[in-house]
Amino acid sequence: MDPWFPIETDRLLLREFRVSDEPDIHEYACDPEVVRYTDWGPNTRDITQSVLRRWLKEQEHGLEHSVTLAIELKSEKRLIGTIRIEVKDERARTADFGYSLNRRYWNQGYTTEAAHALIDAAVRRIGLRRIWATCDTRNVASYRVMEKLGMRREATFRKDVLQKGEWRDSHLYAILAEEWLAREEAKAEIAEAFESRAAGV
Ligand SMILES: CC(C)(COP(=O)(O)OP(=O)(O)OC[C@H]1O[C@@H](n2cnc3c(N)ncnc32)[C@H](O)[C@@H]1OP(=O)(O)O)[C@@H](O)C(=O)NCCC(=O)NCCS
Repeated sequence: MDPWFPIETDRLLLREFRVSDEPDIHEYACDPEVVRYTDWGPNTRDITQSVLRRWLKEQEHGLEHSVTLAIELKSEKRLIGTIRIEVKDERARTADFGYSLNRRYWNQGYTTEAAHALIDAAVRRIGLRRIWATCDTRNVASYRVMEKLGMRREATFRKDVLQKGEWRDSHLYAILAEEWLAREEAKAEIAEAFESRAAGV
């Protein structure tokens, strides 16, 4: 398979990590607000360093099943978050994904933009047929991202994840490749119709 990253979007670059990303990763990973609904964190500096070492090592070995990428904000040339995709079943071509963003950049559509690019690559480049993700039922921002991407809530699990010593409830969202492609095609048609109207065609 041809390499499917880095991926450039309007405002972002989804790319491999560098050793110099460590302070930017730590800035969000040690923030108790960012890790409120995650089963990891808040990180100590040592933990952030060892996580980054692991990601750098994974990159060297070109891991095919699980890829974590830096979300770089092009205008500031800095890492503002991370996004991960993991193939869960090679034969069924299914994968799950997850994301975290520095709190200073929340609610500006960055994660939706990054996840849109990731799912598009997962469907068109990697050839996956079902992509899903789970989140804490209280994590509205996370499931809003999935809803904005056209993912459907398929299930709610009761007390399925042990998170910082407490059992949490989780929503599961998913989208099929054919749904993704149909949605993208419909969006392109609408955009084209608007352009034609603006051009007076
Ligand atoms: C989840 C997260 C990555 C979203 O990142 P983001 O870049 O802010 O996401 P976006 O801007 O693309 O979209 C966020 C949406 O949630 C909405 N939102 C955020 N907080 C909300 C709240 N408390 N109630 C209702 N909607 C909320 C925003 O308004 C936006 O929706 P809109 O575009 O319809 O207005 C970010 O909040 C984060 O890093 N959280 C901590 C880590 C985490 O929980 N990761 C996910 C683990 S499953």
